[in-house]
Amino acid sequence: PLYLIGALLLGYLLGSIPFGVVITRLMGLGDLRRIGSGNIGATNVLRTGNKAAALATLILDGGKGAAAVLIARAIAAEDAAQAAALGAFAGHLFPVWLKFRGGKGVATFLGTLLALAWPVGLAACATWLVTALVTRISSLSALVSAALAAIWAAWLGYPQIVYLTVILATMIYWKHIPNIERLMAGTEPKIGGRR
Ligand code: G3P
Repeated sequence: PLYLIGALLLGYLLGSIPFGVVITRLMGLGDLRRIGSGNIGATNVLRTGNKAAALATLILDGGKGAAAVLIARAIAAEDAAQAAALGAFAGHLFPVWLKFRGGKGVATFLGTLLALAWPVGLAACATWLVTALVTRISSLSALVSAALAAIWAAWLGYPQIVYLTVILATMIYWKHIPNIERLMAGTEPKIGGRR
């Protein structure tokens, strides 16, 4: 139906704003694509050494996903909220403004989950945080959090978002293939470290 396409498009437009690139450029921290992993996310912004810029990227990349869901839910319904979540996530991964070469979707994933079903979002954020505290590796924390998100959704009583969660988590894994290779080679840097 038309309103679902509208929600998808609204989500895409919001999700495609590459806050990491915008913030690092505005703050004069250089070209994010040439720093560290070259990724546009908060983890890579932190490699510029500027914690405030990284935190702002995390909040805004998560916030755009949450905003897409909340706007779609307010003007339509729950299926539109899910379409907007998918759109925002796809927008972050494939932004037209960066020739479709976007990010890995972790912050946006967590933001959409918080807005779709806050207990699931909180559980996914906590999973990320606990893994990060133990391992100090951002990508590994994302992979553990993404893998468990659908289980949290089913377990916490939100079976209606399990399907979407599996799709988004699968795309997160696909975008993390270089990270998975580095993890297996033992060369993945710790949070705040170089490369
Ligand atoms: O959120 C992305 C993170 O999981 C990995 O980022 O820059 O280490 O590839 P990066």
